[in-house]
Amino acid sequence: MNATIIGTGSFLPAYKLTNRELSTMVETDNEWIVTRTGISERRIQKSGDVADMASNAAIKALDNAGINPKDIDLIIASTSTPDYLFPNCASIVQKITGADNAACFDISAACSGFIMALSAAKAYIEAGMFKKVLIVCSEKMSGITDWKDRSTCILFGDGAGACVIESSEHDGIKSVDLHNDGKLGGVLTAKRNENIVMNGQEVFRFAVKKVPETINTLLEKESTDVKDIKYFILHQANVRIIESVAKRLGTDMNRFPVNLSKYGNTSSASIPILLDELNRENKLHAKDLLVFAGFGAGLNWGSILVEWNCRKS
Ligand code: COA
Repeated sequence: MNATIIGTGSFLPAYKLTNRELSTMVETDNEWIVTRTGISERRIQKSGDVADMASNAAIKALDNAGINPKDIDLIIASTSTPDYLFPNCASIVQKITGADNAACFDISAACSGFIMALSAAKAYIEAGMFKKVLIVCSEKMSGITDWKDRSTCILFGDGAGACVIESSEHDGIKSVDLHNDGKLGGVLTAKRNENIVMNGQEVFRFAVKKVPETINTLLEKESTDVKDIKYFILHQANVRIIESVAKRLGTDMNRFPVNLSKYGNTSSASIPILLDELNRENKLHAKDLLVFAGFGAGLNWGSILVEWNCRKS
């Protein structure tokens, strides 16, 4: 059996924290933030839990897939900002969505969480253990942001994205390439009960080197060319990182959708939020080849080749 994506959903909290408002909080300005990052505003969850955002996104993905929550047999939640040490976020999503027959666990892989969760879903489905998997990535980055540190507080935002994956004859999640280098872990950390601490330049250098590497490895493995890919859906951290990846892959930006100007870096939620936007805007069609690529704290990085087959698109 193969695995394929059959539905997507996302949720963004209503409050928009603009660059203008941020510049009343720390010494910065709209032009600096837009020029250096591409971000104009980000969403902030003023009240409610991470699991509430997750459940909102999950319900939309289940609806998009046309799946009864009771038919889900595994929920994988990805978050770096869980509401509780336990129960895990996936269990709370189960309670809220009524996916009573699902096994539930969370993964912690920071901004690469969606890539790791999708790889796990593929492996479980292909091993024959589960048939319908709900992945939900939900992040309240505002809760671990140092609002006095202008080098990090401009970057992050809150939000959630979800996907339903099903066993299928269609080989929808074709190939995976995953990496981690724990020796570099110190450049991007958030210790328990503390805020994000980051060496931005180190992270930038790492991302622009490793993301093209993993994409090239992935494409070589599948004998696929860069020009065969409809969209490269990258983790939304900084538009300059995405531009650099496009350049290093020898292609142009029109195949790299970007929504970070509206949401900033929503960590593991960024890829499924963007995927959901593309799906709902009918920009994805059967047989389109997509590359998802993530990178983040660990440091970790990886990519996945997908052939789109979402019946609702
Ligand atoms: N507003 C105005 N000035 C700022 C600023 C802000 N928000 N943040 C930093 N600066 C200043 C710095 O103090 C520095 O001033 P100096 O030259 O007087 O010392 C100057 O701008 C340049 O800082 P620098 O850190 O070199 O900027 P940069 O071009 O590397 O951009 C980041 C900083 C954080 C935007 C960039 O490094 C980045 O995006 N890195 C990747 C981070 C990331 O994606 N993390 C998540 C990964 S999942």
